[in-house]
Amino acid sequence: MYKIAVIGGDGTGPEVVAEGLKVLKASSKKFGFSYTHEAFDYGSERYLKTGKTIDDKELDNLKAFDAIFLGAIGHPDVKPGILEQGILLKTRFALDQYINLRPVKLYDARYCPLKDKTPEDIDFVVVRENSEGLYKGMGEFQNKGKSDEVAIQISHNTRKGVERCLRYAFEFTGKRNKRKKLTLCGKTNVLTYAWDLWQRTFDELKKEYPGIETDYAHVDATTMWFVKNPEWFDVIVTDNMFGDIITDLGAMIQGGMGIAAGGNINPAGVSMFEPIGGSAPKYTGKHVINPLAAICAAGMLLDNIGEDKAAKAIENSVIKVASTKLKSLAAGKMGYSTEEVGDLVVENL
Ligand code: IPM
Ligand code: MN
Repeated sequence: MYKIAVIGGDGTGPEVVAEGLKVLKASSKKFGFSYTHEAFDYGSERYLKTGKTIDDKELDNLKAFDAIFLGAIGHPDVKPGILEQGILLKTRFALDQYINLRPVKLYDARYCPLKDKTPEDIDFVVVRENSEGLYKGMGEFQNKGKSDEVAIQISHNTRKGVERCLRYAFEFTGKRNKRKKLTLCGKTNVLTYAWDLWQRTFDELKKEYPGIETDYAHVDATTMWFVKNPEWFDVIVTDNMFGDIITDLGAMIQGGMGIAAGGNINPAGVSMFEPIGGSAPKYTGKHVINPLAAICAAGMLLDNIGEDKAAKAIENSVIKVASTKLKSLAAGKMGYSTEEVGDLVVENL
């Protein structure tokens, strides 16, 4: 009996999570596993009423679950950063979810904005470090508000943090049934402290994984190749900030935010799965948001807790629905409502 924590969160988060839960329920019947789920109200509504984001006791409580299913965090009436740092990043850090795993897979050529690229060309995974770097929040203002103000933002990289991320990426590449190629994406030509550590650790570790082909690309060049030659990639490993940026581009080449899912992984603890698109306030309550990203996140969750057959079935159903039913993956243009898309995935399971 699995225990799943559900945080619908803000904006369209609860709507897409409801469809993910619908698919979870149908797949548990079909594949014979059982689970309980408990909903938590962390998000903007509670924050606007009480000033609370998420506290230590609540974070501790989340550690008792097998996985967390998250919708979206962020609200236009709340100053940027408060909810993101106070809930999303805090949870990632507190539960030591040090990997952000973001598959970039094109399910149907119609949805790719790149000319002549097909599903064979776009199928890679970004392993983003999820606990350090610029996201550590280290830095300071000097002479704030004055004409000689200085703002310092530190990218904090530890050997331990870098090594565990790289090791995860090597292991993941080895298990993935593709080209067994791992690309380190960095900026060794400019960020000569942080990326020296990354490169040195990468070069050391690769000796332990002789079956894996390795490569290096600067982050700026990586964005170019996402557009020009996405077929070159199998697994990419990078730091927190670069991973954040390149995975939005990754989402676009796989068809947009409506289909992009990710997992915040603690390989020895509780992981959290989410659609990466955000709370989409302008679509909230309109029944037009695409739930496929959340449904894919639910599939990743099942894979993570060991229900890989069910996970595969969900992915196959999503591929079928995306390629044979929907007119578009964009909100409001799918040809179906949010709920109807969820129903279609259940029917095709
Ligand atoms: C993401 C988001 C978050 C991030 C924000 C909302 C803090 O952009 O999951 O990619 O920067 O990690
Ligand atoms: Mn992002």
